[in-house]
Amino acid sequence: MDFEEFRRHGHAFVDWMADYLEGVERYPVRAQTRPGEIAARLPDAPPRQGEPMEAIFADFQRDVLPGITHWQHPRFFAYFPANASPPSILAEMLTATLGAQCMLWQTSPAATEMETKVLDWLRQMTGLPEGFHGVIQDSASGAILCALLTARERATGWRSNAQGLHAAPQVAVYTSGQTHSATEKGVRIAGIGSDFLRKIPVDDEFAMQPAALEAAIAADKAAGLVSACVVASLGRRGWVPSIRCGRSARSAGGTASSSTSTPPGPAPP
Ligand SMILES: Cc1ncc(COP(=O)(O)O)c(C=O)c1O
Repeated sequence: MDFEEFRRHGHAFVDWMADYLEGVERYPVRAQTRPGEIAARLPDAPPRQGEPMEAIFADFQRDVLPGITHWQHPRFFAYFPANASPPSILAEMLTATLGAQCMLWQTSPAATEMETKVLDWLRQMTGLPEGFHGVIQDSASGAILCALLTARERATGWRSNAQGLHAAPQVAVYTSGQTHSATEKGVRIAGIGSDFLRKIPVDDEFAMQPAALEAAIAADKAAGLVSACVVASLGRRGWVPSIRCGRSARSAGGTASSSTSTPPGPAPP
């Protein structure tokens, strides 16, 4: 693709993106396809030849879009809000154009320095005291795992990293039954073991009960375990969407549900 063609397709793509965002409510919130339907539309062998962008875009509209859940839809109430604003979409175009690798300061100094600054803004916005720092992780599970590993190392005086888990005292981690499954997954990957993840009871508002937490920590200490960390759940998705839906997501089976109905109106653009 030469740069004139790139420019032409880029403009056409942005027009399509603006139309999509303007008319997203004309799509059904959830994909209406059956399992395997999208895979069946794709060739079994990898393509050997490039294709014109027009053909690729036609494939996208015909074969990909029907299998998309529209997270940008105003009636999407599942999981958590994860909307991309038009300015952030344009910013992603710049990021993709630069193809920047941001793993070290010297691989893109601006990335590291912006990350540090923006995370400090986040610290201020969430009311955390000065001295808290953070780095952006690739996923929530990865972030939870990093936090658990850090807690495990602090609790064992960095012995598990240096000598392996067998040389360090057994640690325990505390959370409630309202936590995301990523916490238990992290406890397993960190080598702590699910048996040492304590699910502390919650009250009527799903908040962890401090007295029960205190008792669990005391019991573990008495048994010779080291208490490593408490994993809090704030605004967890098990019930937050139920406030918006006006009905308990828990009573509907424990998870939030999204609208699957197709609103009347013209066919999706
Ligand atoms: C509270 C919470 N923790 C962890 C996760 C796991 O996220 P990821 O798939 O980014 O690892 C999710 C995802 O929905 C979540 O809502």
